[in-house]
Amino acid sequence: MQTTQVYAVNRQQTDCLEVRTTDLEAPPAGHARVRVEAAGVSYGDVLFQRGVVPGGPKPPFVPGCDLVGVVESVGAGVTGLEVGQRVAALVVSGGYTTGINLPAERLVPVPDGVDPVRAAAVSLNYFIAHQMLHRVARISSGQSILVHGASGGVGLAFLQLAEHIGGVTVFGTASAANLDLVRRHGAVAVDYRNEDFAVAIRDSVGGVHAAFDPIGGPHFFRSYSVLRRGGRLVAYGQNDALRDGKPNMFIGAVGFLGGIILPNLRPDGKKTGFYNAWSLEKSQPQAYREDLAQVLDLLSADKIAPREIHTLPLREAGEALARAERGVTGKLVLNCT
Ligand SMILES: NC(=O)c1ccc[n+]([C@@H]2O[C@H](COP(=O)([O-])OP(=O)(O)OC[C@H]3O[C@@H](n4cnc5c(N)ncnc54)[C@H](OP(=O)(O)O)[C@@H]3O)[C@@H](O)[C@H]2O)c1
Repeated sequence: MQTTQVYAVNRQQTDCLEVRTTDLEAPPAGHARVRVEAAGVSYGDVLFQRGVVPGGPKPPFVPGCDLVGVVESVGAGVTGLEVGQRVAALVVSGGYTTGINLPAERLVPVPDGVDPVRAAAVSLNYFIAHQMLHRVARISSGQSILVHGASGGVGLAFLQLAEHIGGVTVFGTASAANLDLVRRHGAVAVDYRNEDFAVAIRDSVGGVHAAFDPIGGPHFFRSYSVLRRGGRLVAYGQNDALRDGKPNMFIGAVGFLGGIILPNLRPDGKKTGFYNAWSLEKSQPQAYREDLAQVLDLLSADKIAPREIHTLPLREAGEALARAERGVTGKLVLNCT
């Protein structure tokens, strides 16, 4: 079978992607071949392509951390997967493609009737928000949390999933135009350009049980400073390590050292750590399938809904990546059919 893939071929801001067509072999034992229908595009793809994430893939590589498609064939020893079945998967890279072989255990069934583009729009964002809320910070009713970038894809996922827990006080930072959206999801909206979130939190609840921060750099320390005793900073992004198109590894290092490593040494009862979508794979191997299935079930039951979805054809992945870097309202999804 021939497959079309979009490769990141360098670390530049433009002309960094190249469309290539190659043969995809039959799936090896324990694997299935998926005809990809939709692949999510996220700001994290930009950070990987620009080389800002330590340990990220090196060019040439195929970006894309989430995909949805249909099982086309299965290798020897695969059970529990039917040809023709729709599945979703999270991958470290490889999503921008029309076809891929993946280990069968990575493929999670998509409930009947769920649109593949909508499934791709929620898979990564809601999966990571779910894991950070439930498995890392273990948030429960009566607690309070701080969500940065609350109007963004992951931010909105936090707000919607916290609404399901119920009784959680949520502070959500966003820019002025997005404050109403944040409020509509039951959060206390803080305009991060004109207000100090630390003051807003101290004045109302004193401190939060958890802060979820994708901004990075010195921002991690500011989020840590609003934790109450026993609270946890969950850092999960490094937006500030790429500003105005320029990677700034110094800012990234400052965030890790000053916001995560050093605060953890203080005997103040607070904890800090960096989370990514693969953080729990060793300690909780069942969590991947359970949590992705749960997110897809919530979507199927209309209990979560991504903000606007913008679709582009796979061949326009370069435009999608550029839009993700400029900042987009809603979720970008590549149509791979
Ligand atoms: N660790 C992982 O495995 C993983 C996986 C996926 C994504 N991520 C990370 O998650 C982050 C969010 O991704 P996304 O797809 O949700 O991005 P997104 O949809 O572009 O949303 C980002 C939001 O951040 C807000 N923002 C920017 N600067 C801010 C600041 N200083 N304070 C508060 N908010 C600020 C913007 O809000 P306004 O428009 O209102 O200004 C924007 O809506 C990225 O850093 C990405 O790398 C991590």
